[in-house]
Amino acid sequence: MTDDTLWEVVEESALTLTDHEAIAAMLAQAFPDWSHWFVGSRSWSGMQPERRVIARDADGVVLAHVGIRRMFISVGSQDLLVGDTGLVGVTPRLQGTGMGRDLMERARSVLEGLAVPFGFLGTGEDRVPFYAKVGWRVFDEVVTDYTAFTAEGAGMPMTEQGGWMVLPVVAPLEDWPAGPVHLNAQQV
Ligand SMILES: CC(C)(COP(=O)(O)OP(=O)(O)OC[C@H]1O[C@@H](n2cnc3c(N)ncnc32)[C@H](O)[C@@H]1OP(=O)(O)O)[C@@H](O)C(=O)NCCC(=O)NCCS
Repeated sequence: MTDDTLWEVVEESALTLTDHEAIAAMLAQAFPDWSHWFVGSRSWSGMQPERRVIARDADGVVLAHVGIRRMFISVGSQDLLVGDTGLVGVTPRLQGTGMGRDLMERARSVLEGLAVPFGFLGTGEDRVPFYAKVGWRVFDEVVTDYTAFTAEGAGMPMTEQGGWMVLPVVAPLEDWPAGPVHLNAQQV
């Protein structure tokens, strides 16, 4: 990792057009299969975050990024406040250097600051071990329905099991309710 890395936590409304472009440029590299989403200043895929953690080099190039947004979801019969977490990426040349761990430690601090009971995210099987190493717990049995995002902007209802992960923030993990998750929204 570079020594001159500058970390910041930014409110969505404070981001400039240049910020969005710099974030989108990094995300397009971190997610090469989905780069058509991160075109120009579009620095999000589904739901826009409310707060972001951004690492930059001395020239302002974005090196790592995570987005967070508070939302109520339904879990079983309960409504639950979570910090939905996504757009997690480290620029390819710095992947595997511990920057992702740094990023998620900072994400945890943001979630603590927002005082949400839980962080929530969905990921592919191959990235579950990364999140598990930084304190997130996978719920293999949980089925979640959500609205998938498309590059064209259309929302498509999806149901998936596997890869749904929870971070206990204010509440203990045992307080996560039983039952399927209904997001009724897109994810960050
Ligand atoms: C996933 C990603 C954010 C991880 O960041 P990173 O900087 O590469 O990860 P780190 O070097 O900080 O790794 C932290 C720990 O997780 C482990 N780890 C990282 N990726 C892993 C993986 N895919 N499988 C298993 N373990 C993994 C590391 O070995 C390390 O373990 P250690 O602390 O015991 O040595 C980064 O690789 C990335 O941007 N990938 C492409 C985009 C992506 O898939 N984002 C997630 C979308 S849900």
